[in-house]
Amino acid sequence: MSDTPSTHPINQEAVEAAVEAALAAFASAATVAELKAARTEHSGDASAIAQLNAQMRQVPKDEKAATGKLMGQARGRIEGAYKGREAELIAKEAAERLVAETVDVTRAPVRARIGSRHPLAQLQDEAADIFIGMGWEIAEGPELEHEWFNFDALGFDPDHPARAMQDTFFVEPADRHLILRTHTSPVQIRSLLSRELPVYVVCPGRVYRTDELDATHTPVFQQIEGLAIDKGLTMAHLRGTLEHFARQMFGEAAKIRLRPNFFPFTEPSAEMDVWQPNAKGGARWVEWGGCGMVDPRVLAAAGIDADEYQGFAFGMGIERTLQFRHDLNDMRDMVEGDVRFNRQFGGLV
Ligand code: PHE
Repeated sequence: MSDTPSTHPINQEAVEAAVEAALAAFASAATVAELKAARTEHSGDASAIAQLNAQMRQVPKDEKAATGKLMGQARGRIEGAYKGREAELIAKEAAERLVAETVDVTRAPVRARIGSRHPLAQLQDEAADIFIGMGWEIAEGPELEHEWFNFDALGFDPDHPARAMQDTFFVEPADRHLILRTHTSPVQIRSLLSRELPVYVVCPGRVYRTDELDATHTPVFQQIEGLAIDKGLTMAHLRGTLEHFARQMFGEAAKIRLRPNFFPFTEPSAEMDVWQPNAKGGARWVEWGGCGMVDPRVLAAAGIDADEYQGFAFGMGIERTLQFRHDLNDMRDMVEGDVRFNRQFGGLV
Protein backbone atom coordinates (compact mmCIF):
# COMPACT_ATOMS: atom_id res chain seq x y z
CA MET A 1 0.00 0.00 0.00
CA SER A 2 1.16 3.56 -0.61
CA ASP A 3 1.92 6.14 2.06
CA THR A 4 -0.76 8.53 0.88
CA PRO A 5 -4.08 7.70 2.50
CA SER A 6 -6.47 6.02 0.15
CA THR A 7 -9.26 8.09 -1.26
CA HIS A 8 -11.50 5.05 -1.97
CA PRO A 9 -13.71 3.58 0.80
CA ILE A 10 -12.72 -0.05 0.38
CA ASN A 11 -10.88 -0.55 3.64
CA GLN A 12 -10.51 -3.45 5.98
CA GLU A 13 -13.04 -2.17 8.53
CA ALA A 14 -15.82 -1.41 6.04
CA VAL A 15 -15.43 -4.81 4.40
CA GLU A 16 -15.27 -6.57 7.76
CA ALA A 17 -18.43 -4.77 8.92
CA ALA A 18 -20.34 -5.82 5.78
CA VAL A 19 -19.22 -9.44 6.19
CA GLU A 20 -20.07 -9.53 9.91
CA ALA A 21 -23.54 -8.09 9.23
CA ALA A 22 -24.17 -10.76 6.59
CA LEU A 23 -22.92 -13.58 8.81
CA ALA A 24 -25.08 -12.39 11.73
CA ALA A 25 -28.17 -12.14 9.51
CA PHE A 26 -27.59 -15.66 8.10
CA ALA A 27 -27.09 -17.09 11.57
CA SER A 28 -30.33 -15.62 12.84
CA ALA A 29 -32.43 -16.73 9.83
CA ALA A 30 -34.80 -19.42 11.13
CA THR A 31 -36.05 -20.74 7.79
CA VAL A 32 -34.74 -21.20 4.26
CA ALA A 33 -37.07 -18.42 3.15
CA GLU A 34 -35.70 -16.01 5.74
CA LEU A 35 -32.17 -17.01 4.75
CA LYS A 36 -32.84 -16.20 1.09
CA ALA A 37 -34.18 -12.81 2.06
CA ALA A 38 -31.02 -12.16 4.14
CA ARG A 39 -28.85 -13.11 1.18
CA THR A 40 -30.63 -10.60 -1.05
CA GLU A 41 -30.12 -7.96 1.60
CA HIS A 42 -26.45 -8.71 2.36
CA SER A 43 -24.99 -9.83 -0.95
CA GLY A 44 -27.55 -8.67 -3.52
CA ASP A 45 -27.13 -5.70 -5.86
CA ALA A 46 -28.08 -3.13 -3.20
CA SER A 47 -26.02 -4.70 -0.39
CA ALA A 48 -23.13 -3.02 1.42
CA ILE A 49 -20.64 -5.48 -0.08
CA ALA A 50 -21.92 -4.78 -3.61
CA GLN A 51 -21.67 -1.06 -3.01
CA LEU A 52 -18.05 -1.48 -1.84
CA ASN A 53 -17.32 -3.57 -4.87
CA ALA A 54 -18.64 -0.79 -7.09
CA GLN A 55 -15.78 1.39 -5.84
CA MET A 56 -13.12 -0.91 -7.35
CA ARG A 57 -12.73 1.43 -10.31
CA GLN A 58 -11.49 4.20 -7.97
CA VAL A 59 -8.83 2.00 -6.37
CA PRO A 60 -5.35 3.11 -7.45
CA LYS A 61 -3.56 0.61 -9.65
CA ASP A 62 -0.99 -0.39 -7.03
CA GLU A 63 -3.68 -1.24 -4.51
CA LYS A 64 -5.93 -3.12 -6.93
CA ALA A 65 -4.44 -6.57 -6.28
CA ALA A 66 -4.66 -6.30 -2.47
CA THR A 67 -8.14 -4.76 -2.51
CA GLY A 68 -9.33 -7.34 -5.02
CA LYS A 69 -8.11 -10.09 -2.75
CA LEU A 70 -9.82 -8.48 0.25
CA MET A 71 -13.12 -8.30 -1.64
CA GLY A 72 -12.76 -11.86 -2.96
CA GLN A 73 -12.20 -13.22 0.53
CA ALA A 74 -15.17 -11.25 1.83
CA ARG A 75 -17.45 -12.63 -0.90
CA GLY A 76 -16.11 -16.12 -0.18
CA ARG A 77 -16.89 -15.87 3.53
CA ILE A 78 -20.41 -14.59 2.85
CA GLU A 79 -21.09 -17.33 0.29
CA GLY A 80 -19.60 -20.01 2.55
CA ALA A 81 -21.68 -18.87 5.52
CA TYR A 82 -24.78 -18.89 3.32
CA LYS A 83 -24.14 -22.44 2.05
CA GLY A 84 -23.47 -23.74 5.55
CA ARG A 85 -26.60 -22.17 7.06
CA GLU A 86 -28.70 -23.28 4.06
CA ALA A 87 -27.67 -26.93 4.57
CA GLU A 88 -28.53 -26.66 8.27
CA LEU A 89 -31.93 -25.14 7.64
CA ILE A 90 -32.87 -27.64 4.87
CA ALA A 91 -32.02 -30.50 7.20
CA LYS A 92 -33.99 -28.88 10.03
CA GLU A 93 -37.06 -28.30 7.88
CA ALA A 94 -36.97 -31.83 6.48
CA ALA A 95 -36.80 -33.25 9.99
CA GLU A 96 -39.74 -31.09 11.09
CA ARG A 97 -41.77 -32.19 8.05
CA LEU A 98 -41.13 -35.85 8.83
CA VAL A 99 -42.45 -35.34 12.33
CA ALA A 100 -45.47 -33.37 11.14
CA GLU A 101 -46.37 -35.91 8.47
CA THR A 102 -45.83 -39.01 10.52
CA VAL A 103 -48.30 -41.75 9.57
CA ASP A 104 -49.46 -44.13 12.25
CA VAL A 105 -49.48 -47.37 10.29
CA THR A 106 -51.11 -49.18 13.18
CA ARG A 107 -54.25 -46.98 13.12
CA ALA A 108 -57.54 -48.62 12.05
CA PRO A 109 -58.49 -47.54 8.52
CA VAL A 110 -61.63 -45.48 7.86
CA ARG A 111 -63.62 -47.46 5.32
CA ALA A 112 -65.46 -44.65 3.56
CA ARG A 113 -68.67 -45.82 1.92
CA ILE A 114 -68.78 -44.29 -1.51
CA GLY A 115 -72.24 -45.55 -2.40
CA SER A 116 -73.70 -46.84 -5.64
CA ARG A 117 -76.87 -46.61 -7.67
CA HIS A 118 -79.80 -48.73 -6.58
CA PRO A 119 -80.22 -52.02 -8.49
CA LEU A 120 -83.64 -50.79 -9.71
CA ALA A 121 -82.12 -47.62 -11.15
CA GLN A 122 -79.40 -49.71 -12.80
CA LEU A 123 -81.95 -52.08 -14.32
CA GLN A 124 -84.02 -49.17 -15.57
CA ASP A 125 -80.95 -47.70 -17.32
CA GLU A 126 -80.00 -51.08 -18.71
CA ALA A 127 -83.49 -51.52 -20.21
CA ALA A 128 -83.58 -47.99 -21.63
CA ASP A 129 -80.09 -48.42 -23.14
CA ILE A 130 -81.24 -51.44 -25.14
CA PHE A 131 -83.77 -49.22 -26.91
CA ILE A 132 -81.35 -46.31 -27.26
CA GLY A 133 -79.14 -48.85 -29.05
CA MET A 134 -81.95 -49.36 -31.59
CA GLY A 135 -82.35 -45.62 -32.16
CA TRP A 136 -85.35 -45.09 -29.89
CA GLU A 137 -85.66 -41.99 -27.72
CA ILE A 138 -86.46 -41.53 -24.03
CA ALA A 139 -89.83 -39.87 -23.33
CA GLU A 140 -91.03 -38.43 -20.05
CA GLY A 141 -94.29 -37.41 -18.43
CA PRO A 142 -95.43 -36.16 -15.02
CA GLU A 143 -96.14 -38.48 -12.09
CA LEU A 144 -98.95 -36.17 -11.01
CA GLU A 145 -101.07 -36.72 -14.10
CA HIS A 146 -104.41 -35.56 -15.43
CA GLU A 147 -107.09 -38.23 -15.53
CA TRP A 148 -107.61 -37.56 -19.22
CA PHE A 149 -104.07 -38.71 -20.13
CA ASN A 150 -104.06 -41.62 -17.67
CA PHE A 151 -107.54 -42.96 -18.55
CA ASP A 152 -109.83 -41.13 -21.01
CA ALA A 153 -107.43 -40.74 -23.92
CA LEU A 154 -106.46 -44.40 -23.46
CA GLY A 155 -110.04 -45.58 -23.84
CA PHE A 156 -110.89 -46.33 -20.21
CA ASP A 157 -114.65 -45.80 -19.74
CA PRO A 158 -115.68 -43.37 -17.00
CA ASP A 159 -116.83 -46.35 -14.90
CA HIS A 160 -113.81 -48.58 -15.63
CA PRO A 161 -112.85 -50.42 -12.41
CA ALA A 162 -109.22 -49.24 -12.62
CA ARG A 163 -110.43 -45.72 -11.84
CA ALA A 164 -112.07 -46.84 -8.61
CA MET A 165 -110.79 -45.52 -5.33
CA GLN A 166 -109.09 -48.76 -4.38
CA ASP A 167 -106.64 -48.68 -7.33
CA THR A 168 -105.95 -45.02 -8.00
CA PHE A 169 -104.58 -42.29 -5.75
CA PHE A 170 -106.82 -39.30 -6.42
CA VAL A 171 -105.49 -35.89 -5.51
CA GLU A 172 -107.74 -33.27 -3.99
CA PRO A 173 -109.55 -31.16 -4.99
CA ALA A 174 -111.37 -33.83 -7.06
CA ASP A 175 -112.65 -31.33 -9.62
CA ARG A 176 -109.10 -30.78 -10.91
CA HIS A 177 -109.04 -34.45 -11.99
CA LEU A 178 -105.44 -34.97 -10.96
CA ILE A 179 -104.18 -38.41 -9.96
CA LEU A 180 -100.87 -40.14 -9.36
CA ARG A 181 -100.40 -41.95 -12.66
CA THR A 182 -101.24 -45.66 -12.38
CA HIS A 183 -99.07 -46.64 -15.36
CA THR A 184 -96.63 -45.06 -17.83
CA SER A 185 -99.12 -45.36 -20.71
CA PRO A 186 -100.21 -41.67 -20.47
CA VAL A 187 -96.76 -40.90 -21.86
CA GLN A 188 -97.95 -42.60 -25.08
CA ILE A 189 -100.49 -39.81 -25.55
CA ARG A 190 -98.08 -37.07 -24.48
CA SER A 191 -95.42 -38.37 -26.90
CA LEU A 192 -97.87 -38.54 -29.80
CA LEU A 193 -99.09 -35.00 -29.12
CA SER A 194 -95.63 -33.48 -28.81
CA ARG A 195 -93.48 -35.36 -31.32
CA GLU A 196 -93.21 -35.62 -35.07
CA LEU A 197 -94.09 -38.97 -36.62
CA PRO A 198 -92.69 -41.58 -36.78
CA VAL A 199 -92.36 -42.04 -33.00
CA TYR A 200 -90.10 -44.60 -31.32
CA VAL A 201 -89.91 -43.93 -27.58
CA VAL A 202 -89.40 -45.66 -24.27
CA CYS A 203 -90.53 -44.14 -21.03
CA PRO A 204 -89.12 -45.48 -17.78
CA GLY A 205 -90.83 -43.97 -14.78
CA ARG A 206 -92.50 -44.20 -11.40
CA VAL A 207 -96.17 -45.17 -11.07
CA TYR A 208 -98.57 -45.47 -8.13
CA ARG A 209 -101.34 -47.85 -7.14
CA THR A 210 -103.18 -48.25 -3.86
CA ASP A 211 -101.68 -51.70 -3.21
CA GLU A 212 -100.45 -52.81 0.19
CA LEU A 213 -96.71 -53.40 0.44
CA ASP A 214 -96.12 -57.16 0.40
CA ALA A 215 -93.77 -59.70 -1.15
CA THR A 216 -95.03 -59.05 -4.69
CA HIS A 217 -96.59 -55.55 -4.54
CA THR A 218 -95.48 -52.07 -3.68
CA PRO A 219 -97.74 -48.98 -3.91
CA VAL A 220 -94.94 -47.09 -5.69
CA PHE A 221 -93.13 -48.91 -8.43
CA GLN A 222 -91.59 -48.36 -11.83
CA GLN A 223 -92.53 -49.33 -15.33
CA ILE A 224 -90.89 -49.07 -18.69
CA GLU A 225 -93.26 -48.20 -21.49
CA GLY A 226 -92.51 -48.60 -25.19
CA LEU A 227 -94.31 -46.98 -28.12
CA ALA A 228 -93.60 -47.28 -31.83
CA ILE A 229 -95.81 -45.52 -34.41
CA ASP A 230 -94.83 -45.61 -38.07
CA LYS A 231 -96.21 -46.59 -41.44
CA GLY A 232 -96.83 -50.31 -41.84
CA LEU A 233 -95.90 -51.58 -38.36
CA THR A 234 -97.42 -54.97 -37.56
CA MET A 235 -97.61 -57.42 -34.70
CA ALA A 236 -94.50 -59.10 -36.14
CA HIS A 237 -92.52 -55.93 -35.37
CA LEU A 238 -93.90 -55.98 -31.83
CA ARG A 239 -92.86 -59.60 -31.40
CA GLY A 240 -89.40 -59.07 -32.84
CA THR A 241 -88.78 -56.02 -30.68
CA LEU A 242 -89.87 -57.79 -27.49
CA GLU A 243 -87.84 -60.87 -28.34
CA HIS A 244 -84.71 -58.75 -28.81
CA PHE A 245 -85.44 -56.94 -25.52
CA ALA A 246 -85.92 -60.27 -23.70
CA ARG A 247 -82.64 -61.71 -25.06
CA GLN A 248 -80.73 -58.61 -24.01
CA MET A 249 -82.24 -58.71 -20.53
CA PHE A 250 -82.25 -62.44 -19.84
CA GLY A 251 -79.69 -63.99 -22.18
CA GLU A 252 -79.67 -65.47 -25.69
CA ALA A 253 -81.74 -68.50 -24.66
CA ALA A 254 -84.71 -66.34 -23.59
CA LYS A 255 -87.93 -66.65 -25.63
CA ILE A 256 -91.22 -64.82 -25.39
CA ARG A 257 -94.82 -65.89 -25.86
CA LEU A 258 -97.92 -63.74 -26.27
CA ARG A 259 -101.25 -64.69 -24.73
CA PRO A 260 -104.48 -62.90 -25.72
CA ASN A 261 -105.57 -60.29 -23.19
CA PHE A 262 -107.43 -57.01 -23.06
CA PHE A 263 -106.30 -53.41 -22.59
CA PRO A 264 -108.59 -50.51 -23.49
CA PHE A 265 -105.81 -48.83 -25.51
CA THR A 266 -104.48 -51.70 -27.62
CA GLU A 267 -106.22 -53.99 -30.10
CA PRO A 268 -105.34 -56.79 -30.30
CA SER A 269 -103.79 -56.94 -26.83
CA ALA A 270 -101.58 -59.55 -25.28
CA GLU A 271 -99.94 -60.59 -22.05
CA MET A 272 -96.28 -61.30 -22.64
CA ASP A 273 -94.42 -64.14 -20.94
CA VAL A 274 -90.69 -64.74 -21.00
CA TRP A 275 -89.00 -68.16 -21.01
CA GLN A 276 -86.25 -68.47 -18.45
CA PRO A 277 -84.34 -71.68 -19.16
CA ASN A 278 -81.92 -71.12 -16.28
CA ALA A 279 -84.29 -70.10 -13.49
CA LYS A 280 -83.33 -71.42 -10.04
CA GLY A 281 -86.30 -73.76 -9.64
CA GLY A 282 -85.99 -75.01 -13.26
CA ALA A 283 -86.98 -73.62 -16.67
CA ARG A 284 -90.25 -71.66 -16.61
CA TRP A 285 -92.50 -69.11 -18.29
CA VAL A 286 -92.91 -65.89 -16.31
CA GLU A 287 -95.46 -63.17 -16.91
CA TRP A 288 -93.49 -60.06 -17.86
CA GLY A 289 -95.83 -57.31 -19.10
CA GLY A 290 -98.66 -56.17 -21.33
CA CYS A 291 -98.54 -55.21 -24.99
CA GLY A 292 -100.55 -54.80 -28.16
CA MET A 293 -101.21 -52.87 -31.33
CA VAL A 294 -102.13 -49.27 -30.51
CA ASP A 295 -105.91 -48.88 -30.77
CA PRO A 296 -106.99 -46.56 -33.63
CA ARG A 297 -109.03 -44.59 -31.09
CA VAL A 298 -105.84 -43.73 -29.19
CA LEU A 299 -104.28 -42.48 -32.43
CA ALA A 300 -107.43 -40.46 -33.10
CA ALA A 301 -107.23 -38.90 -29.61
CA ALA A 302 -103.76 -37.65 -30.61
CA GLY A 303 -105.01 -36.43 -34.01
CA ILE A 304 -103.25 -39.14 -36.03
CA ASP A 305 -104.77 -40.73 -39.13
CA ALA A 306 -104.96 -44.43 -38.24
CA ASP A 307 -105.22 -45.42 -41.92
CA GLU A 308 -101.77 -43.98 -42.51
CA TYR A 309 -99.96 -44.78 -39.23
CA GLN A 310 -100.01 -47.87 -37.04
CA GLY A 311 -97.91 -49.12 -34.21
CA PHE A 312 -97.46 -51.07 -31.05
CA ALA A 313 -96.97 -50.45 -27.34
CA PHE A 314 -95.80 -52.44 -24.38
CA GLY A 315 -95.20 -51.93 -20.68
CA MET A 316 -93.54 -53.91 -17.94
CA GLY A 317 -92.72 -53.49 -14.28
CA ILE A 318 -89.09 -52.86 -13.34
CA GLU A 319 -89.41 -54.30 -9.79
CA ARG A 320 -91.02 -57.44 -11.17
CA THR A 321 -88.28 -57.77 -13.79
CA LEU A 322 -85.56 -57.44 -11.15
CA GLN A 323 -87.42 -59.90 -8.93
CA PHE A 324 -87.61 -62.77 -11.37
CA ARG A 325 -84.33 -62.09 -13.15
CA HIS A 326 -82.50 -62.45 -9.81
CA ASP A 327 -84.82 -64.91 -8.05
CA LEU A 328 -85.66 -62.44 -5.29
CA ASN A 329 -88.27 -63.65 -2.84
CA ASP A 330 -89.51 -60.39 -1.42
CA MET A 331 -90.12 -57.11 -3.21
CA ARG A 332 -89.93 -55.27 0.12
CA ASP A 333 -86.15 -55.74 0.08
CA MET A 334 -86.02 -53.42 -2.95
CA VAL A 335 -87.68 -50.51 -1.19
CA GLU A 336 -86.42 -50.73 2.36
CA GLY A 337 -82.99 -49.26 1.63
CA ASP A 338 -80.81 -51.80 3.44
CA VAL A 339 -77.35 -51.54 1.88
CA ARG A 340 -76.80 -55.29 2.30
CA PHE A 341 -79.39 -55.75 -0.45
CA ASN A 342 -77.55 -53.40 -2.83
CA ARG A 343 -74.22 -55.03 -2.04
CA GLN A 344 -75.40 -58.32 -3.56
CA PHE A 345 -75.59 -56.56 -6.89
CA GLY A 346 -71.93 -55.58 -6.74
CA GLY A 347 -72.56 -52.01 -5.67
CA LEU A 348 -69.70 -50.17 -3.96
CA VAL A 349 -71.52 -49.67 -0.69
N1 PHE B 1 -100.13 -49.95 -18.99
C1 PHE B 1 -100.38 -51.37 -18.90
C2 PHE B 1 -100.33 -51.79 -17.42
O1 PHE B 1 -99.84 -51.04 -16.62
C3 PHE B 1 -99.36 -52.18 -19.67
C4 PHE B 1 -99.42 -51.98 -21.14
C5 PHE B 1 -98.62 -51.01 -21.74
C6 PHE B 1 -100.27 -52.71 -21.94
C7 PHE B 1 -98.67 -50.83 -23.12
C8 PHE B 1 -100.30 -52.55 -23.30
C9 PHE B 1 -99.50 -51.60 -23.87
O2 PHE B 1 -100.77 -52.83 -17.08
